[in-house]
Amino acid sequence: MSGTGSTYNLDDLLDRALSSPLALSSGEMAYLLSLGDDADVAKLHAAARSVKLKCCGRGVSVRGLVEAGNICAKDCLYCGIRKSNAEVERYSLDADSIVAAAQEAKSLGYASLVIQSGEIESEAHTQFIETVLGRIKPLDLGVTLSLGEQTEEVYARWREAGAERYLLRIETSDPALYATIHPAECRWERRAECLRALRRTGYQVGTGVMCALPGQTFASLAHDIEFYGGIDADMIGMGPYIPHPSTPLGQNAQFDPKRALSLALNMIAVTRLYLHDINIAAATALQALADDGRERGVMAGANVIMPNVTDTRYRRAYKLYSNKPCLDEAATMCRACLDRRLAAIGEELLLGQRGDSPHFHRRMDKCLKA
Ligand code: 5AD
Ligand code: FES
Repeated sequence: MSGTGSTYNLDDLLDRALSSPLALSSGEMAYLLSLGDDADVAKLHAAARSVKLKCCGRGVSVRGLVEAGNICAKDCLYCGIRKSNAEVERYSLDADSIVAAAQEAKSLGYASLVIQSGEIESEAHTQFIETVLGRIKPLDLGVTLSLGEQTEEVYARWREAGAERYLLRIETSDPALYATIHPAECRWERRAECLRALRRTGYQVGTGVMCALPGQTFASLAHDIEFYGGIDADMIGMGPYIPHPSTPLGQNAQFDPKRALSLALNMIAVTRLYLHDINIAAATALQALADDGRERGVMAGANVIMPNVTDTRYRRAYKLYSNKPCLDEAATMCRACLDRRLAAIGEELLLGQRGDSPHFHRRMDKCLKA
């Protein structure tokens, strides 16, 4: 990680960032990302949190997360469910189990659902997801899909079947860094094109990166935030990169969990300061590094949490990284735990609300007026 000189005045930068979105240069963002002194970090996070309160209000939007299957056709060098990891017991939930998880989410008061799985591109899978979307439609949940790279036609079919949002992390906005963490057949350009296709097909589009990847610089992370602005993202999900021992990137990895956590929190804060009214998730990976990681994400400007509603029988098998939390806690327990944790920081879950990003509504209003 390269250092940045401190020719910047922190208070001035934060004042400017608070007054309007897109007000920071990439050099200024790299400087803010590099902050490590406790008092400076506290100022940075407090400023981001005040933007969160101004643009998104008090409260945290909630989406129930269903890990629908861990079969994956890809071989990302960091990911625990990559196809070459023979140690993983593979599963895929049937439609009844996904619908049951959606009902569980609904009964807990979660008005939104995220369906995530390993990446599969096939007609059978496309149809399966269409069937599932049709069956959960009567529950009237806001549905996000996180099912990887697909053709525009597939995205359009799932949109038609009822999905409104799609999450596809770009992982890093730097094609050269992307190439060091993926096999050659995974092309950064295709991923970027998928994000454009999602926008064209009318989704609320979410993206994000992993923080503290080997070889990643503050400048590269600042560029990631500019990338979010450039594609006019509605939501961002970011978390620390956590080595998984059964992956090429995770073997013999030098890993400093404290540094990865601080960097991920600073990324949330600077993204909030640059983009103001988007949805930002406090990723579960934050909680893998500190028990109170997600609450710290909210205190640094995040406004979305995605508790797991997958049946606990399958949670161990969906392990993207080491130390995954909440492996044995059923959804009701996760709900009670979250209520308690958020109350401790003066926040609460926004139950019964879909939690679209204010940015998305502003974008739609602009389109209608144009
Ligand atoms: N550490 C942290 N995040 C990871 N992901 C995959 N593997 C890891 C890891 N080892 C993230 C990727 C992917 C998302 C579903 O999970 O960013 O897009
Ligand atoms: Fe499954 Fe990367 S290993 S999408």
